[in-house]
Amino acid sequence: MTSNESKAQATQDDAIEALMVEERRFPPPDNIASRANVKDPAIYEEALADREAYWAGEAGKLHWFKDWDKVLEWNPPFAKWFIGGELNVSYNCIDRHLDDRGDKVAFHWVGEPGDTRTLTFKDLYFEVCRFANALKHLGVRRGDRVAIYMGMIPELPIAMLACARIGAPHTVVFGGFSSDALADRINDTKAKVLITQDGANRRGQVFPLKDNADAAIESTPSVESVVVVERCNNEVTWVEGRDHRWTELVESQVAECPPEEMDAEDVLYILYTSGTTAKPKGIVHSTGGYLTQVASTHRMVFDIKDDDVYWCAADIGWVTGHSYIVYGPLANGCTGVIYEGTPDYPEKDRLWQIAEDYKVTILYTAPTAIRTFMRWGTEWPERHDLSSLRILGSVGEPINPEAWMWYRKHIGGDRCPIVDTWWQTETGAIMISPLPGITTTKPGSATFPLPGVVADVYDEQGESVHLGGGGYLVLKQPWPSMIRTIYGDQDRYVETYWSRYDKETYFAGDGCKRDEEGYFWLMGRIDDVMNVSGHRISTAEVESALVAHPSVAEAAVVGRNDEITGQAIAAFVTLRGGEHGDEALISELRDHVAEKIGKIAKPQSIVFTDDLPKTRSGKIMRRLLRDISEHRKLGDITTLANADIVDEISKLAAASPGED
Ligand code: WTA
Repeated sequence: MTSNESKAQATQDDAIEALMVEERRFPPPDNIASRANVKDPAIYEEALADREAYWAGEAGKLHWFKDWDKVLEWNPPFAKWFIGGELNVSYNCIDRHLDDRGDKVAFHWVGEPGDTRTLTFKDLYFEVCRFANALKHLGVRRGDRVAIYMGMIPELPIAMLACARIGAPHTVVFGGFSSDALADRINDTKAKVLITQDGANRRGQVFPLKDNADAAIESTPSVESVVVVERCNNEVTWVEGRDHRWTELVESQVAECPPEEMDAEDVLYILYTSGTTAKPKGIVHSTGGYLTQVASTHRMVFDIKDDDVYWCAADIGWVTGHSYIVYGPLANGCTGVIYEGTPDYPEKDRLWQIAEDYKVTILYTAPTAIRTFMRWGTEWPERHDLSSLRILGSVGEPINPEAWMWYRKHIGGDRCPIVDTWWQTETGAIMISPLPGITTTKPGSATFPLPGVVADVYDEQGESVHLGGGGYLVLKQPWPSMIRTIYGDQDRYVETYWSRYDKETYFAGDGCKRDEEGYFWLMGRIDDVMNVSGHRISTAEVESALVAHPSVAEAAVVGRNDEITGQAIAAFVTLRGGEHGDEALISELRDHVAEKIGKIAKPQSIVFTDDLPKTRSGKIMRRLLRDISEHRKLGDITTLANADIVDEISKLAAASPGED
């Protein structure tokens, strides 16, 4: 079948059409492949043949106080892993390394103003034990919830690990959230203690965390004590008896705190997904299964060696930070980098400066960041020696092939494999990703499910789509780090994830296509699928086509209601460094999309803008752009990272007529 014939066939029966064809491919480089942690592709077959044995093998790499009796109990849609087993996450992340790696650096920390701190595993042990004792002193007992509202300072992972040590589930609330968002999350978990800081450094300004926390706890009766780290020394109000300075609390505590022996299924943490409309969902994660899969995937996907300096540049307030800054890397005894501030402070090369200073070998970041770097231009990374890098990772959104190529060339020096990792807060750990020593990558594809993971792409009826077709991503077998429930709302858990097909099939909510070779291509949230003249087209593909044009840095595409075609494609585009858009460029871009993926996908209108509306975790808010395109009153924009841009885009869009 030619690719045009296969496109035609796809058009008839697919839930989502797969229009883009990508011919570039990159086999693993020899220097990585020859010494990779995973070299033998037989691992996929072996894991498939006996998944329980596979995951038991991975779990066995952790330290268990008591062995499990049974690997898996699956009463769909409820799974329990490593039943009867007992372990402690903080013990696995710290104590276990003390003999061999006590003096190894656990975290290189860089403050935004330029101050630095280095914590070895031994330092981490002392800090965590003392703070764990401080929490006990405040009356926190096993099972009590603790809320954490902080910026990216060392006390944040220390607080999380201290909670894990005493068996108190934490709920970390991203430091950029408002007091309302914080109050909702505290009230949902009924947290007893809130840990925060006076202020957080952000682009040279102080973000008033304590003030926000004070406002939040006016409506959170469960909070008995507030612990405050002094970071910015900004003025704060103080409630005697309720508020405690971190330093004063730990001063009197001994640096030894026996780890609680937790059941494998005990709750390690609750993390709220930042829904753009509905009430946020408290995603509940377990202890044993979670740690097993984050440690295992971190070791394999990033090919971690003892001398690596690994940097996940996410915020710890998101699941990426939980799994791949704190728990996965520490469980593997790995040296990590944490940076407090924004990538453009004081200049747009801050990340590359840090990568050079610490000789970072592995960098894990998000497409939104990569596209921003593209917009800033290559001069910033070019100022720095990035030759220490050996592997690059991407997470959070589909990565457009051109952004992938830019990342490979300008950050990875054309030598580093890119691991595009698909997963969710709910999956806890990476599910679909290349393995750098085995997988031949294609720009924009997350490639294949990892060993021990069973994924498929379904059509509307729940049939697996043919190769070359598109549909909905599903996960077909339970996995150790999977969500256990939505906190306090079991029905919503069943309804949201396990009812689209049947209760053994996890519905991820993402569009996906599989190419002729079985590679998975994620196509964004299914709410982001457009219907143009009866063709179901993913926003991700049209965006990728736009970003493939040399003038374009970033693009967001939405379907706008249209009397004739059902929906018409409206595009919002930011250009690379300093360029201006005019009518000629609009028509050039429309033709360019037509040429890349077909006339059907040609945007009806294109608006040039300085920025796109994004959630605080960097995902483009297409819902808002749809509202703008259809001249609707805008809904809630408080979860936006850059609310100002909405006004600007609304004006531009109103001034821009569509074309036929
Ligand atoms: C999207 C982040 C394409 C996807 C770890 C998913 C991705 C949602 C990728 C989860 C990727 C994440 N390629 N899309 N590599 N990684 N996504 O819960 O839509 O913040 O469902 O977890 O991000 O976002 P969350």
